[in-house]
Amino acid sequence: MFALAHLSDPHLPLPAPDSGSARSFSAKRISCLLSWKTKRVAIHRPEILEALLADIEAAAPDHIVVTGDLINISLPREFAAARGWLAGLGAPDRVTVVPGNHDRLVDDLPWQEALGRWHSYMCGDERMNGAPAFPFVRRRDPVALVGLSTAVPTPIFQASGHLGRDQIEAAKERLVELGREGVCRIVLLHHPPVAHGRRAHPRKMLRDHAEFCEAVGSAGAELMLHGHSHRFALGRIELKNGGYVPVLSVPSGSARIGNGDTAAGWNLYRVHRQPGGAWRIEVTSRGLDASGAFVTRGRFSLVLNNAS
Ligand SMILES: [Fe+2]
Repeated sequence: MFALAHLSDPHLPLPAPDSGSARSFSAKRISCLLSWKTKRVAIHRPEILEALLADIEAAAPDHIVVTGDLINISLPREFAAARGWLAGLGAPDRVTVVPGNHDRLVDDLPWQEALGRWHSYMCGDERMNGAPAFPFVRRRDPVALVGLSTAVPTPIFQASGHLGRDQIEAAKERLVELGREGVCRIVLLHHPPVAHGRRAHPRKMLRDHAEFCEAVGSAGAELMLHGHSHRFALGRIELKNGGYVPVLSVPSGSARIGNGDTAAGWNLYRVHRQPGGAWRIEVTSRGLDASGAFVTRGRFSLVLNNAS
């Protein structure tokens, strides 16, 4: 059995200003900074994130994934502070990160001052010291984590994501190879690839979701995990062989209670290999209740036999 914890969108507190620079004041950053100061700072609370992490620790997972939006306006001091937060979460071989739109709000920083800070948490096993590359693959027997980046800078008031044809094609190839190896393929990305019964908002959606779902539909995968929506959801991508890939999201890891149905939560996936090659994945959703405690919000099992 392999136990995987999934949290997302922690939106860590904005560190106090340092010397700053002109590049910190792009229109995109200003609009997000206003949103943080007028609304988000009251929603995303560090003490709630701390309680969520204690709840995860009590479950003693083998690995933790964070599906993006660790920070808010992509300032150098936020990347540095988030690197320290990741170090507290676990060593890079036990924690995997994919970036969200808030982690790549604009492209005006050297990579080493921005996402490069998190590189050891966001790369394949064979590329620990290499350049950024997506998709990356991390093998944690019997699981293979396939990390994608949907994070692209967008115009003001937009938060959409994009994978691009090259990344989709590479992901398809890797998923086919991993399927032949018989591992449990778990795909990680920030933006939802499916609408979960809601109308996908063009300002926030994964723009090439149709191409991506088409590729996954023929390559196969066992599980797909994402963030961005700040809520628990379970959807699916239909496979051409008749099966399906469950698509799950979790709320922000730091959202306070009273924020609709989106108070903080996380998922635990217990992966079991079944006789005959199928996978059974037990899902436990844990969320904040009115007393401030984390409780089980839902529990169900998925049985999948998607390798072709
Ligand atoms: Fe997001």
